[in-house]
Amino acid sequence: MTSTAYIRPDLETLPSYVPGKRDDHSLKLSSNEVAFEPLDAAKEAMAAATAGANRYPDLAAVELRSALAEHLGLTLEQVAVGVGSSALCQQLVQITAGPGDEVVFPWRSFEAYPIFTQVTGATPVAVPLDAKGFNDLEAMAAAVNENTKLIFVCNPNNPSGTTITRADFDAFLASVPKHIIVALDEAYFEFNRDDNSPVATDYVRKHANVVGLRTFSKAYGLAGVRVGYAFGAAEIIDALNKVALPFGVNVAAQAGAIASLHARDELLARIKETVAIRDRVADHIGAAHSQANFIWLPTTPERSAEIASTLAAEGVIVRSFPEGVRITITNAAEMDVLIAAWDRAFA
Ligand SMILES: Cc1ncc(COP(=O)(O)O)c(C=O)c1O
Repeated sequence: MTSTAYIRPDLETLPSYVPGKRDDHSLKLSSNEVAFEPLDAAKEAMAAATAGANRYPDLAAVELRSALAEHLGLTLEQVAVGVGSSALCQQLVQITAGPGDEVVFPWRSFEAYPIFTQVTGATPVAVPLDAKGFNDLEAMAAAVNENTKLIFVCNPNNPSGTTITRADFDAFLASVPKHIIVALDEAYFEFNRDDNSPVATDYVRKHANVVGLRTFSKAYGLAGVRVGYAFGAAEIIDALNKVALPFGVNVAAQAGAIASLHARDELLARIKETVAIRDRVADHIGAAHSQANFIWLPTTPERSAEIASTLAAEGVIVRSFPEGVRITITNAAEMDVLIAAWDRAFA
């Protein structure tokens, strides 16, 4: 028997998640992280929590979920936490879809959508972005059929940084059957300054099939401890909690997230710099403007790989995809390093 005989054959076609490259001597702009460390209050809360790491964390994460519910204007029963919003994406697929079912998502977008879909044995339906890199909601609605169980909408979209409008999202929801869950992935919500963009908290109140997804990994600067959250109808949240890995959100993650949520204003003040400089950096390198903490340069697969390797040789790691290059925007000091590297390489 070959070793692969033990493994589900359909997993052979599963793409592996590709993390942003890392190299301790380079500036890492490949994973959409923020440059600043957690706030002192969060660091202290996490250190105190790990001192009690002989105990399991609170399974139901009641304190964190209560704080989130208050912040979102929802009830505890309407909020689930997970091991990053990645886990909640996976749980959404698990509670809705299996073999023979379809999951619709924009593409290129968050690379875990097709992976999580295939892990459950469901069929990924990747709907190309439109020519300007926007989630093509009309085409996504047209891709829905009787097998569709879940739709991811990514706003702002990773990696193109584009946002959808409320009008387009309203029209989309009107055309999607109510038994299909629509997950509005707002991983980059705090960076979005587009007033026409839908906000998931408004939608979950009006639409029982809409679920919002947010994370502490990006604006809150807690990517390393892995905690994200989903909010929506209690029935969906209950199902998400049923399939969650027990005790997945660890003691440090719960404590760090609670402390960071309480210090939200201080944290969000820190990302103002990112928002203020992203257009300037985009203009300098010829990328489109973005509503997230990254910019996107669409190009050919060859040119994308070439830009990434040339910048890597200059000490800056960016993320190359077949459709283009994504560069994380952080603070002015790091962006000066990026621009200097860019100019040395390409100006
Ligand atoms: C669109 C989108 N959704 C979800 C995630 C998951 O983030 P995390 O699992 O760190 O919360 C990411 C991370 O890059 C993302 O880009």
